[in-house]
Amino acid sequence: MRIFLIGFMGCGKTSVGKKLAEKTGYDFYDLDDEIENFTGKSITKIFETDGEQSFREYESKALLNLSKKEKAVIATGGGTPCFADNMKIIKESGISIYLQTSPETLANRLNQIKQTRPLIASKEKKELDLFVSKKLFEREPYYIKADYIIKEKNICADRILNLIGFKY
Ligand code: S3P
Repeated sequence: MRIFLIGFMGCGKTSVGKKLAEKTGYDFYDLDDEIENFTGKSITKIFETDGEQSFREYESKALLNLSKKEKAVIATGGGTPCFADNMKIIKESGISIYLQTSPETLANRLNQIKQTRPLIASKEKKELDLFVSKKLFEREPYYIKADYIIKEKNICADRILNLIGFKY
């Protein structure tokens, strides 16, 4: 069994994922970390040297590997569900949960933590606000294919486990 967390950059996939793993006893995996481990490069370096298209290929490969793990909580990247067959792989191999967060909250958070995210690292706040609204609008149709949608105010590990009826 696998639990996939999906949603825009900054929605809390990694922090909630770690808590879910703690509570369930499952292993926690962060897709970006897996990509960095097998390429030996940071996400920033991959975008710089190999380009986004190669990054998306590594991302799909890493997802396919993780989709075979047992008892896993997997934090995907913000773009993961929107490329290749990734959402199909996610849906076929586990439970998917979309952490739905408003563009305002995302942009405010991301403004503080954008350095490690090449798509937004160089954007000033105004530009970031626009980018987040536009990209979220484009990506939401993929995200809402998730089995469960959790709204911002309810994003907490206990509520998620309750919602999916996780049996300890
Ligand atoms: C991306 C999100 C990032 C990372 C990469 C691209 C995106 O992951 O995969 O920088 O396309 O939204 P996080 O959502 O974990 O920041």
